Amino acid sequence: MIEPMGNAGRFLVEAAGRLGVRLYAATHKDVHDGYPHRLRDALSGVCATDLTDTARALADMEAFCRRHAVAGIAACFELFTPLAALLAERTGLPGNDPRLAHAPRNKILMGEAFARAGVPAPRWAVAHDPDEALQVARAGPGALGWPLVVKPAEQGGSWGVSVVDGPDRLADAVRAAQRYTRAEPHGLPLDTRALLQEYVPGREYSCDTVVADGVAHPLPVVAKDTTDGTYRIETGHTCPSGLPGPLEEEVRRVAARAALAVGVRNGIAHTEVKIPPGARTPYVIETGARLPGDNLCEVVEAATGVDEAVAHLRAVLGTAPDTAPTRTDAAAIRFLLPERGGVLRRLDVPGEPGTHAELYLKPGDAVPEPADSACRAGHVLARAATAGEARRLADRVAARSRVEVG
Ligand SMILES: Nc1ncnc2c1ncn2[C@@H]1O[C@H](COP(=O)(O)OP(=O)(O)OP(=O)(O)O)[C@@H](O)[C@H]1O
Ligand SMILES: [Mg+2]
Repeated sequence: MIEPMGNAGRFLVEAAGRLGVRLYAATHKDVHDGYPHRLRDALSGVCATDLTDTARALADMEAFCRRHAVAGIAACFELFTPLAALLAERTGLPGNDPRLAHAPRNKILMGEAFARAGVPAPRWAVAHDPDEALQVARAGPGALGWPLVVKPAEQGGSWGVSVVDGPDRLADAVRAAQRYTRAEPHGLPLDTRALLQEYVPGREYSCDTVVADGVAHPLPVVAKDTTDGTYRIETGHTCPSGLPGPLEEEVRRVAARAALAVGVRNGIAHTEVKIPPGARTPYVIETGARLPGDNLCEVVEAATGVDEAVAHLRAVLGTAPDTAPTRTDAAAIRFLLPERGGVLRRLDVPGEPGTHAELYLKPGDAVPEPADSACRAGHVLARAATAGEARRLADRVAARSRVEVG
């Protein structure tokens, strides 16, 4: 597992236990020092390297794979999905297309890959600075129009993403998108170009796709809720999606095409789409060659019985994944967001049957401004018989929770 410290790592640990496989991590020594105990204890060994130095990381990981007879490679951190594809090529293990290694990480290369494969996606343009962005946004026929979305070429968690409704705010949005020159905690250099995208209105969904030997197995669709306005922070997810059957099928089909377009061959992809009101075609916002974050593994498993992490491990081991739903229940997750940044004074979540909560912060911790997902204080997850009930239950607990910032 290349950098399992994120949200998906814990699900892979549980999945490895179920499959009876040993897990090894490739990471930085100081990042490993900060791993939670249960992740550290679950590892059979660690390849300490410098993941920001591609040549060195590949050489270290290849030697490690041979020494430990590693049978499969999974990237858990989106920015290291290219390394996983390149390592699979070097070791001859199942993996994604090395020629497209960077497409699931870099949204400019992703846009090119979608265009080549005819995947429905918003129109886009690249800007190296605010002036170029203004020229691009104003450029006559074919202009992206307003509002448009400005985002970093490489980043996640909605960091640096803003919806801009006119030229006055464009320069600030481009500067915000270009703020990230390195990704922490590894110090990985990032492509600092800004991406301008046509704004796609409508509801948002995600759909994960397991791919085994180039054959796509789409998983159930999940409805996503976000904040409105300039900053779009995910506020929750609900499964099942509530979409009519044919549209749910279309989302699964388009998500599978997006996964294949960015070179996913043996692994999993997390794809986000929006469906404009009245439209029958979903537009792909992005796809990542990794398990989803946001505890979506838990949401999908609770609702459908599909274990995405097990399916992912099977796919990277080159064995057939089991993606058939075994349940028709429902689950919803709601994130606890502060109204503003500051210092957390109080965090209370009422207990309610059918729900459980997880808190990420404690009183005294700094809370960032609610401009991206780093501001979340915790979540509540509800299980019920229907999506509507799960959503209501999670919403009720979230509404009664107190996230006080001073
Ligand atoms: N072209 C677009 N049209 C409409 N909304 C968009 C568009 N691009 C992004 N958004 C909104 O902004 C959110 C974040 O954008 P995006 O997914 O591209 O960034 P990210 O940082 O990779 O996100 P994350 O890692 O949180 O999934 C999307 O989930 C969506 O709500
Ligand atoms: Mg996204």
